Amino acid sequence: MKLAIAAIEILSPGLKRFTLAGAELPWAGPGSHLVLQIPGPARVWKNAYSLTAAPNGAYRIIVRRVGHSRGGSAWLHDHASLGDVLEVEAPQNFFNPPRSAKRHLLLSAGIGITPFLAYLQIPGLAYELHHCCKPEEADAFQALLPPGANAVLHTSRDAFNLHELMAKQKLDTHLSVCGPDSFMNIAVTAAKSLGWPMAKIHLESFGGATGGKPFSVRLERSGIAVDVGPEESLLDALEAAGLTPSCLCRGGACGECRMGVLSGTPEHHDHYLSDAEKASGKFMMICVSRAVTPELVLDF
Ligand code: FES
Repeated sequence: MKLAIAAIEILSPGLKRFTLAGAELPWAGPGSHLVLQIPGPARVWKNAYSLTAAPNGAYRIIVRRVGHSRGGSAWLHDHASLGDVLEVEAPQNFFNPPRSAKRHLLLSAGIGITPFLAYLQIPGLAYELHHCCKPEEADAFQALLPPGANAVLHTSRDAFNLHELMAKQKLDTHLSVCGPDSFMNIAVTAAKSLGWPMAKIHLESFGGATGGKPFSVRLERSGIAVDVGPEESLLDALEAAGLTPSCLCRGGACGECRMGVLSGTPEHHDHYLSDAEKASGKFMMICVSRAVTPELVLDF
């Protein structure tokens, strides 16, 4: 789809809200995300953003200006203008509110609040949102909440007793978490230690890939070799080589990009594979994971 930037709002020095408009947009429920193709000097970057709202004829996203941006957030913050037209993939949703939940405990940090802003628009949803943010961004996030929202903003993680909060939840509560890796790991560890089954824990990572040591991959079935640079993900590198591996979230949470590892050792950064699968080294999520060894051979 081609969507035009219809509005840009500055929410804080590091946060901007974009409204993207187009004709006959597909419906997108709470939890959906969009993949934007963002022009860079040498290549097009694909970044996924949660929809905070999808009013008629428009999608809204909030973008944080990342310090070491690979190109996506920097372009959107520094160069995007009203009327610019972007190529956008149709919305996908793997983070919709679990239907079997009677109550929802929503935990977010930073820009991870974005999918929950869409959840909060569901009439009658029984939820409790706890959002962690920097003190200087608290006003901006507070302003995004609907009147009467059952939400608490935490500006000091030390004063936020996650364990205690989870321990007092009723049995029919599901936990949904969105935020940076460190936050998600703390939340999942606390939930597991209290006996929450993984079936009641739902995760979305907004962080996407981070860079790292360069490495090479050889694709066994395609017979293609690809170098992965320090500032790109394995998925980025395969796409730049003209390949189209399956992917949805581009953030290590949905499971769509799982690829078999035939040799070499992957460095896992996802929230999808189980601990046992990660330890086996037989699979990796190519959107976020990298390599410990200089080369990987993949079943692709
Ligand atoms: S695309 Fe979702 S886990 Fe990689």
